[in-house]
Amino acid sequence: MTNVGIDAVEIWTGKLKLDLAETFAPEKGDDPAKYTKGLGLFESSFPDTYEDIVTMGANASKRLMERKGLEPEDIGRIDVATESSFDNSKPISTYIAGCLEQTFDGDFHHANKGERKFACVAGTQAVDDAYNWIRAGRNRGRSAIVVATDTALYKRGDPGEATQGAGAVAMLISEDPDLVELSSDQGYGSADETDFLKPNQQFPSVDGKRSVQVYLARMREALVDYESVAGDIHPEDFVYAPFHTPFPGMVRKAALLAYRHITRDTEIEEELAAEIGRQPREEAFDDWDDYVEAVQEYTDALKGTDHYADWYDATIDPTLDIARHVGNWYTGSVHVARAACLKRAYEEGRDLTGERLLVGSYGSGAQAEIHHETLQDSWEEEIAALNIDEQIDARYDLSFEEYEQVHAAHDHSKDRDFEEFTAPDGEFVFDGWGRMGERKYRFVE
Ligand code: CAA
Repeated sequence: MTNVGIDAVEIWTGKLKLDLAETFAPEKGDDPAKYTKGLGLFESSFPDTYEDIVTMGANASKRLMERKGLEPEDIGRIDVATESSFDNSKPISTYIAGCLEQTFDGDFHHANKGERKFACVAGTQAVDDAYNWIRAGRNRGRSAIVVATDTALYKRGDPGEATQGAGAVAMLISEDPDLVELSSDQGYGSADETDFLKPNQQFPSVDGKRSVQVYLARMREALVDYESVAGDIHPEDFVYAPFHTPFPGMVRKAALLAYRHITRDTEIEEELAAEIGRQPREEAFDDWDDYVEAVQEYTDALKGTDHYADWYDATIDPTLDIARHVGNWYTGSVHVARAACLKRAYEEGRDLTGERLLVGSYGSGAQAEIHHETLQDSWEEEIAALNIDEQIDARYDLSFEEYEQVHAAHDHSKDRDFEEFTAPDGEFVFDGWGRMGERKYRFVE
């Protein structure tokens, strides 16, 4: 069977940052710990006034193609996943291809292009589409570029404002990949939900508290569905579990429930029995509410055990290393989480070839997807090539007044007549509107 997966990845962060504890919390009259400890976020990335979903996606894709020594003729497909599109007809992938054609020889006329939509899970769906295209043997030896790009902004004053972010992840999907092989085993949890949506409006309508519950419910369904094809999961089966990260606190909640689920009927449950008892079983209760209460008590106790803390520190915490400093990138978020844990492993000099990741994607509306990935021989070289730390450190630190201007500058309904905070250098920039309302872009040397 053809081995297909992610051959390479590049990450592009918006070039501005909002410090949540130092700049945002004081304006809101909040304790900074609500952000750093509660939500688990220190800073958010924002796009400068000349950046948008196209420039960030094109800049990440350019780095990807250059680093892998690719020309347009090597790429048979360009798919973009985004929740921040500004056009209901012309896909963002055409704009990105147009940008790349400014700097590479040749063109992408032969490449199939599209745009995937299902909130944040669309990034993973686009990876799936590329996987299926290659596995179907339709790729003629070519690779696919998948770009997950978003400006995840909320209405001013919305509770979600604390979890904003902006950036793009470009992934190369190929046969015999250098980074990870994707599993054909997958699990889904999908239901018609109204937790977070954008009914033809730029900023989302969000029921934040409910969205947290919907995330947990759909993720659980996906896990059970995954186990129905891949077999029961044991905590030691996976070195890391990168999950969609709207904010690290969300992943902390999901991780605890996942750990409870995957330790049931294992030697870990037995080892913990003396300390916190065994997991409540539904059949032992006459009353549903009593059962739910017992499960809650067990879960609270589980959270305080060394077993759980050790697993969390080893398997989950490293996946949050980047998210803590960039916020939510919607479609790119789970792909940032994968890069983050592998970066930690690379820095620690771990030998992970052949090891597995359990990857959990989620999109509001709502759908979760779980699959696994196997690390390939050259994973270290791929991760060593990332420059995300340098990009994060180089961001311009916004004052609150500047943040207000930047937020307004990225409101589609307003003029974009604002000063830039940084100087573009060797990158694509937004260059105004054309006669049909299209956006124009140019490369700045
Ligand atoms: N010290 C330590 N912790 C503190 C604190 C302090 N001083 N003050 C508050 N906290 C804790 C709270 O206890 C809470 O933690 P727990 O949930 O573990 O109890 C946490 O900080 C956040 O505090 P609040 O719940 O009071 O925060 P909020 O109500 O203002 O906002 C939110 C939370 C509703 C999730 C909001 O951030 C939001 O609407 N976010 C957007 C929606 C979202 O991201 N949902 C996630 C699932 S949907 C999804 O994943 C798709 C997507 O990408 C959007």
